[in-house]
Amino acid sequence: MNTECFDIIIVGTGASGLTLALELSEQIQAKTDSDDVPQIALISKGPILEGSTLYAQGGIAAVLDENNDTIASHINDTLNAGAGLCHLDSVEFTIERGKEAIQWVIDKGVDFSREDKSDEYHLTREGGHSQRRVIHAADATGKALSEGLLSQVKKKPNIKLFEHHLAVDLILSPHNTRQCVGIYLLDTHSNQVIEVPAKITVLATGGASKVYLYTSNPDSSTGDGIAMAWRAGCRIANMEFNQFHPTCLYHPKAKSFLISEALRGEGAKLKLINGTPFMHKFDEREELAPRDIVAQAIDYEMKRTGSDYVYLDISHKPAEFIKDHFPTIYQRCLTFGIDITSEPIPVVPAAHYTCGGIMTNLDGQTDLENLFAIGETAFTGLHGANRMASNSLLECLVFAKAAADKIKSQLRQYQCEPQLPPWDDSRVTGSEEGVVVTHNWDELRRFMWNYVGIVRKNKRLLLAKQRVQLLQREIDDYYRQYLINSDLIELRNLAIVAELIINSAMKRKESRGLHYTLDYPYKDDNKFLNDTILKPKNYQQH
Ligand code: FAD
Ligand code: SIN
Repeated sequence: MNTECFDIIIVGTGASGLTLALELSEQIQAKTDSDDVPQIALISKGPILEGSTLYAQGGIAAVLDENNDTIASHINDTLNAGAGLCHLDSVEFTIERGKEAIQWVIDKGVDFSREDKSDEYHLTREGGHSQRRVIHAADATGKALSEGLLSQVKKKPNIKLFEHHLAVDLILSPHNTRQCVGIYLLDTHSNQVIEVPAKITVLATGGASKVYLYTSNPDSSTGDGIAMAWRAGCRIANMEFNQFHPTCLYHPKAKSFLISEALRGEGAKLKLINGTPFMHKFDEREELAPRDIVAQAIDYEMKRTGSDYVYLDISHKPAEFIKDHFPTIYQRCLTFGIDITSEPIPVVPAAHYTCGGIMTNLDGQTDLENLFAIGETAFTGLHGANRMASNSLLECLVFAKAAADKIKSQLRQYQCEPQLPPWDDSRVTGSEEGVVVTHNWDELRRFMWNYVGIVRKNKRLLLAKQRVQLLQREIDDYYRQYLINSDLIELRNLAIVAELIINSAMKRKESRGLHYTLDYPYKDDNKFLNDTILKPKNYQQH
């Protein structure tokens, strides 16, 4: 990759990054002369589609069946799931644009599942939704979405794709430390760092659920965007609300495999290992209560009965229905010897989604000039204290489009910074102590799971804080002494994210949504009906 100045550099090739790249290339091409087509760099740290989007199962929520559903109902369900903390403007903004976003995706050639013998799209149901409103491509919606969008991106000559390039840090202008002018990228094949100037930089780097030992997320979810933005001076909000998905496959060899909430939407029941259903004891919506309630109920029952898992059972449905609606889950479970058409699936909760993130406005703009954030890495106020199922892909699509509109209107105002501070590795050497990095990865994720998981306590949070601070000192020493590689950069970012989660959780002395603490087991609207906003030392107010 040479270091030409790009008009826009987008870090991340999930639903948000791909959508933004396409929207920008289309809108700008349509509005400018052909010799004035902006150059877009689209970056992924691993193989091009690797990220949460690729593994999304359930679908995308939007009001599509206007005979039986309304925007008001989708808004209301989202607000209910968010336990008082959703920003109404963001909720309305997103949900009102749902139908248009889905149509845009369909126009890009992405196909969704249909009703039997009909052209109508099949809409499924998930927790918190009072209506069937989740459009999906069987149980592999993310694969259909990302492959469809990528095939369009590849046709655009002004989008350059760079795989295996890891963004290390944002570059701030030497003349104005509130302005982002590019990014340092590590080529993970050559291990060289280059500085890439850009008029506009967009973080579309996904979530941070890898901070927990057990997660539904792929390895890429290390919170890099959140950590980079924090180091550069952006505010980060609501990091205590990390969502645990109630049902991930429990099997020693099944790394990160999700069992979609859509199974419960289609009638699957949660049972103890002796076969007794239990969700009726926790919520009248039973299996279709929002995720915070279902995950906490499973955690409670596992601790009460001393079992390592509970069962999710859909075997009462016809085998053909199961294979047709859930072909990926059926096949994957079969490889582990579980036939879901005739037996229950052992499941456990696992870290799934980062509701907090880099604070943005409704155009995706962050606290820094020329820096945007979209998708799971951003905090838009949509999800409040608990994201409702299938609202995330919708947020990716809607906010990518909004950011594209804003960028398009601003782009002509900006010049490229002619001289960026070069990456300086003159004082570091190659390391022969890689074991330190591996050990710290493991330790961090383990104490986050044990001390900052589904059920929290003051004492555990304090222990976690002491440990993360110790780890940060070790990581910083290591970072100063040795040449960087992707494991070290991701570990450094995870440690920052862990500290942000712990600090946010310590501030919230109540239980709400995804944050449940035994020391303050009740909601306290008088003191805590607000976001937890953390400001870095270098934060400068506008
Ligand atoms: P991602 O899709 O995670 O993409 C992040 C991108 O950033 C990747 O390309 C990665 O390589 C890149 N990146 C990260 N850091 C760097 C760096 N430092 N340098 C360079 N590149 C970097 N939501 C729904 O709405 N419906 C669902 O059905 C659904 N199912 C899900 C199932 C699973 C198993 C999981 C894990 C999540 C699911 N979600 C679902 C959540 C949803 O998939 C994600 O929130 C969403 O896909 C995030 O998209 P994104 O574009 O923000 O990030
Ligand atoms: C699932 O299919 O259960 C995941 C849906 C989501 O995370 O929105």
